[in-house]
Amino acid sequence: MKEIDFSLKAKMFDSVLELSKDEQNLMGKAITARNNAYAPYSKFQVGAAILLDNNIIITGNNQENAAYPSGMCAERVAIWSAGAQYPNMIVKKIAITAASSEIEVKNPVGPCGACRQALYEYEFNQKEPIEIIFMGEIGKIIKVTSLASLLPFSFDSSYL
Ligand code: THU
Repeated sequence: MKEIDFSLKAKMFDSVLELSKDEQNLMGKAITARNNAYAPYSKFQVGAAILLDNNIIITGNNQENAAYPSGMCAERVAIWSAGAQYPNMIVKKIAITAASSEIEVKNPVGPCGACRQALYEYEFNQKEPIEIIFMGEIGKIIKVTSLASLLPFSFDSSYL
């Protein structure tokens, strides 16, 4: 028997002002996207902004639907939009933020499991880590260095 250690190191910031100027700009774009989210059912608005290697930023927000399961998360709207517009372009970072009209979202909101898997597909293919920076509406900000770190024993095309 051998123990495997998947312990995760994350950076926690007290304010966006502690991020680099590029990251502050990226989070600003995620906030704008969040404010435009279509979330009339959950009232939980999420915005994501993706920085590509060519310095273009692609944004996405959650798009809900009266048939609830037909809605889509902000992160997948953003990553698939990036993939559609700039196929094979390296993805450098994704910034994510969430807010609600019902509650104050003070804790950092990380991507859901399905979004981690969708984002990981891109990280696996490009063989370069994608940084993830996430926050609520206010409060602390978390930064992790890769999707792989958020998905131990992840599934990828090498299994197929
Ligand atoms: N949501 C996202 O956009 N991203 C996540 O990672 C978690 C959840 C959305 C989906 C739904 O529109 C609302 O938040 C409530 O779950």
